[in-house]
Amino acid sequence: MPFDRFEQRRRLLQWLSASPLFPYAGFASAAPDIPSKLAELEAAADLIAKPEDAINVFDFEPVFRKNVPPAHAGYMYSGIDGEMTLKANRAAFEKYYLRPRRLNDVSKVDMSVELFGVKYPTPIVVCPTGGNKAFHPEGEVAVARGAKPGNHLQILSTVASSSVEEVTKARGAPIWFQLYATSTFNVARQLVAKAERAGCPVVAITVDRVAGRNQEAFERLKRVDSRKCADCHKPGIEERAKKLPNYAGIDIAGLTNMLSSNMDWDFVKRLRDTTKMKIVLKGILTGEDAALAVSNGIDGIIVSNHGARSEDSGRATIDVLPEVVEATKGKITVIVDSGFRRGTDIAKAMAMGANAVGVGRPYLWGLGAFGEPGVAKVLEILRTEFRVAMAQSGVRAVKEFTPAFVRRV
Ligand SMILES: Cc1cc2nc3c(=O)[nH]c(=O)nc-3n(C[C@H](O)[C@H](O)[C@H](O)COP(=O)(O)O)c2cc1C
Repeated sequence: MPFDRFEQRRRLLQWLSASPLFPYAGFASAAPDIPSKLAELEAAADLIAKPEDAINVFDFEPVFRKNVPPAHAGYMYSGIDGEMTLKANRAAFEKYYLRPRRLNDVSKVDMSVELFGVKYPTPIVVCPTGGNKAFHPEGEVAVARGAKPGNHLQILSTVASSSVEEVTKARGAPIWFQLYATSTFNVARQLVAKAERAGCPVVAITVDRVAGRNQEAFERLKRVDSRKCADCHKPGIEERAKKLPNYAGIDIAGLTNMLSSNMDWDFVKRLRDTTKMKIVLKGILTGEDAALAVSNGIDGIIVSNHGARSEDSGRATIDVLPEVVEATKGKITVIVDSGFRRGTDIAKAMAMGANAVGVGRPYLWGLGAFGEPGVAKVLEILRTEFRVAMAQSGVRAVKEFTPAFVRRV
């Protein structure tokens, strides 16, 4: 059946307005950041027509919603089960306030950070997200080009819709590779070798997707999409691997599961011995595991609940960050993601001891809304907001941030 954009949108809006998920599914009009009354004003306003019209990153989300068919939009929006964690990731920032210092000549602000010997102009990292062509035909390549003007670190997903070679080229600089290690060591080893050959200095092993998940919003939005998922998504692991550019040339003999329920510290150690790349674990959520990462010789951690897409723990990553920072004691790199939407969110995490901050959905909103220029504008807004948050805090360089700049309500 041909894709009728207006019909799809009508159904999506109908579903959204009737859904009990609506008040907390992460949609812009329900986000805790929108000051009172603005939601009503926004409802009356037109959607932004071009990236330059955006006032904050949330402005891209309704345009994404207009452009992207319901099933794909649902894949992006969805959390897990009742989406407690999705709500918590945003709401938790309200528990922390900044303590700005004055009279500290902030006429020049240096936002740069160093990660594994490479200097980046800001700590804002582009998180790995799978299948970006579901949102825009240029997918991850458009994301890479959008990340270029701000020279952001980009982490590419194993299940990206463009290959690590292609995206590295589009980005014009080395990127990091995110690994779904699968159930089969030999497949993980080959994927890591491929990333290393493509020039990736770091592999981020995702450790928080070990079981199935019930993405309720995704499942419901699939039902209002008039297209048939099975027309494009064929069942079976071989069919899936065939569609993934990063799997090209990988021998998948023995592969039974693309998730890694059998992964343990020994698996990670064995993998580390196959590569010269630095190893970062993505999805660590406790001080205990952070301490184990240090004792197992891991190079870094991404404190992440996968944007509330792993388990519905109910715990926001900004709440987790202090115990991880405490456990790692500055010995390894700590990045945090999940729910970051504002420069002040980033400032809070940097003050609490993060080395960098990842964003996921905001750049996908930009991508679905306008492609590369949308991604570029989302990242520019975040850079501008973070620069202002630093200057207003009286901080001239990121290393001047200390926990004294933030307090818990
Ligand atoms: C649509 C979507 C796809 C994702 N795909 C992956 C993935 O393939 N690998 C991975 O490690 N994390 C994946 N993530 C998680 C992100 O890397 C990141 O942890 C999360 O998006 C950060 O939260 P935020 O979206 O609230 O900014 C995905 C997230 C989204 C929204």
